[in-house]
Amino acid sequence: MNKELLVIKKRYNLKEEEFNFILTSVFDRKLYQIYLSEKLPKNKIKKIINICERKKTEIPLPYLLKKAYFLDLELYIEKGVFIPRAETELLISLLENYNQEKIKYILDIGVGTGNLTIALARLFKKALVIGTDISKKALKVATKNVEKYSLSNQIKLYHADLFYFPNYQKYFNHFDLIVSNPPYINEKDYKNLPKAVKNYEDKRALYGGEDGLLIIKRILKEGKIFLSPKGKIVLEIDNNHPIKIYEYAKELYSSFIFVNSLTKKIRFAIIS
Ligand SMILES: C[S@@+](CC[C@H](N)C(=O)[O-])C[C@H]1O[C@@H](n2cnc3c(N)ncnc32)[C@H](O)[C@@H]1O
Repeated sequence: MNKELLVIKKRYNLKEEEFNFILTSVFDRKLYQIYLSEKLPKNKIKKIINICERKKTEIPLPYLLKKAYFLDLELYIEKGVFIPRAETELLISLLENYNQEKIKYILDIGVGTGNLTIALARLFKKALVIGTDISKKALKVATKNVEKYSLSNQIKLYHADLFYFPNYQKYFNHFDLIVSNPPYINEKDYKNLPKAVKNYEDKRALYGGEDGLLIIKRILKEGKIFLSPKGKIVLEIDNNHPIKIYEYAKELYSSFIFVNSLTKKIRFAIIS
């Protein structure tokens, strides 16, 4: 194993996965190839040290490296835009057995880096995917990622509050899927978030009001008119939300399916 790398890793006391993340972003090569190289270019070693130095400040690595990963996507990211979480990847798996031919219109609310938007467009190749975000920075970043994956014809992004992009009325009764990983953290949990999250990620991406349900309730209430007759709303939610969501929306919808994440906590809702 490359000795220089071992020394750096030890000096900065980084977690295995953090150090590996830095290595793969700096070298653009497979990890084993990096570790097995006897000699590595000086400028790259300098870059690694530089990143490790900046990492001391708790800045999340994706912001330092301007790179984030979601499923098989490598995405551009800037400080302040929500870092895609591995847990959210499961949302896409939930949709994998849906009929590809029948899904024509999809809305992704709160695109962030565009991770879900892009994954949805790649899964449902015949669908038009509309994405909205309240954050201009998120839209700038998502636009870059959509261009990177050559999906500008299939994905339309808008700076908008939830559903209200220009001419939204045209899409009443249209969306086969309304997907969102909305801000859903409640007041109490928000106060206890780690500094690395609270100080660097946008509050609008995390905080869902006192009970965490502010945006979710709006999506459920205001979204009904946008759904196609067999359309579904697919949401990432908090483990404490299912009963409250059911109580709130039981007059509006007839089917509520709650799905666990890999950690066995409820993390998703499919509502129609
Ligand atoms: C938790 S992040 C999710 C980002 C990305 N979809 C993901 O799954 O990683 C929530 C996103 O919703 C956006 N957002 C918050 N309130 C919104 C609103 N009223 N309308 C549209 N987007 C909103 C935030 O700016 C943020 O990008």
